[in-house]
Amino acid sequence: MIAPGSPPAAVPGEATRRYLRALAERGREPADRTAVPPTYKRYRYAGRLVLPAREPHGDLLRGLLGVTRAEWTHRGVRLKRPAPSGGALYPIEAYVALGEPAGLYHYDAAHHALDLIRPGDHRPLLHASLTRVSAGVPDVVVVLAAVFWRNGFKYREFAYRLQCQEVGVLSAQALALGESLGLDTAVHLRFDDAACQWLLGLDPTREGVLAAFTCASGRAVPPGPPPRLPAAAEEHPPPSVVDRLPCLTALHAASAAPLPGVLPLPPPPSPGEVVRLPAARAVRVADAVPLRCSPEAGFLPRHITAETLATVLAHAAAGYPGDLPGCHDAPVTCAPHVLVRRVTGVPAGAYRYDRLTCALVAADGAGDVLAGPLRPNTRLALPEAAAVVVPVGDQTTGSATFGDRWYRLQQAEAGLVVHRAALAAAACGLTARIHSDGTNPTTDAVLGLTGPLHALSFLLLGIARPGSTVTGPLG
Ligand SMILES: Cc1cc2nc3c(=O)[nH]c(=O)nc-3n(C[C@H](O)[C@H](O)[C@H](O)COP(=O)(O)O)c2cc1C
Repeated sequence: MIAPGSPPAAVPGEATRRYLRALAERGREPADRTAVPPTYKRYRYAGRLVLPAREPHGDLLRGLLGVTRAEWTHRGVRLKRPAPSGGALYPIEAYVALGEPAGLYHYDAAHHALDLIRPGDHRPLLHASLTRVSAGVPDVVVVLAAVFWRNGFKYREFAYRLQCQEVGVLSAQALALGESLGLDTAVHLRFDDAACQWLLGLDPTREGVLAAFTCASGRAVPPGPPPRLPAAAEEHPPPSVVDRLPCLTALHAASAAPLPGVLPLPPPPSPGEVVRLPAARAVRVADAVPLRCSPEAGFLPRHITAETLATVLAHAAAGYPGDLPGCHDAPVTCAPHVLVRRVTGVPAGAYRYDRLTCALVAADGAGDVLAGPLRPNTRLALPEAAAVVVPVGDQTTGSATFGDRWYRLQQAEAGLVVHRAALAAAACGLTARIHSDGTNPTTDAVLGLTGPLHALSFLLLGIARPGSTVTGPLG
């Protein structure tokens, strides 16, 4: 669907190029506080299922989007969720199709409950809209959708990039949680947007489906009768972003079809000095989910071990159950690089990570990341961080066959890579924070990236500097 008011993108990838141009040319825009959207979504009148304690699917949802901790800071008390979100604005909503009690539900994080959107078993229809399907109907299908204006009022067009990365972050979190809950979880980034939007009753100019995952425990309820009733209406629909965020709207519309793409060939590996890393430590990232949070006051200027860096990078570059060709071996649209600052036995510098040999290959770059256009908190934290994990990818070539969906797939994988690194860091006793401003031309030059290759995210990690925030668990 082409958004009303935006010129149609004639060529695959054209909407991506326009979007990237808009991001590159944007100045500092103040948040649009004339229309701050609600921070929650409710379907109050349709029927509610309160999730019991210690039930795998409820625990999965709480571990993804639940309101799980309160932070007391000098600015007041802030409610936080288990996975990171740009500006803690949490634009992603979760919709759940269950077989028993059969229905399509919205997860109400504030009340840890499911609100019924449509009765009936929606799993077969949602399952059929996926590009890669499993043999049987899964126990549960979860669809993640972004409320565009939820963080768009602050980040404007950049909001889509954050939203796409956040569904990748949540996918990594779902895989970690699935492992500890005994659920066989798979990530789906290629599905029929229109079918999902219609079943959920979502207007794609306000809220767009971006990812889904399926969970199977081997005890799936057999498919029930197909749904008939129309979707329930939500209480306060968010505003349309057609006029407010035209490039976001056009890119999301242009990326609606899951084209059968062919992965572009990776660039030939550049030669460079090789630093072998020790074997990665065995850690269970699932155990780190309750430990992870972004550091409030940056890092202590301390070294970490090469084994810890090896563990973080091995998790960042690991394959995962998903629907992109080859992703079971490794992420396919981006590859982790690293800026080493304080790692015992590894010279400071910029490196490409070679996952097959578990080695770092020195990048042929120049300059200093601190000379780039960084925000004050990045400028303070970066000199004391131990390392920075940077997924790198070609933002445009893949759109020749994947169409504009490529942008979404790649940003989601970038989010997945950095969140796996953050969870592995937490499992090793470290802390990590994404600093999106670190993806800039200076960082690209330091990493020796040329042509269409760019840094896609920027995850600082190290030993947390104690701050004045007090954190308390909720629920
Ligand atoms: C995609 C993404 C981008 C982010 N970008 C930034 C950033 O540019 N600067 C920053 O300080 N934090 C950034 N964050 C971290 C969030 O501010 C942080 O996750 C949020 O405040 C919630 O806190 P928590 O991570 O401790 O749960 C980002 C997080 C995500 C998921």
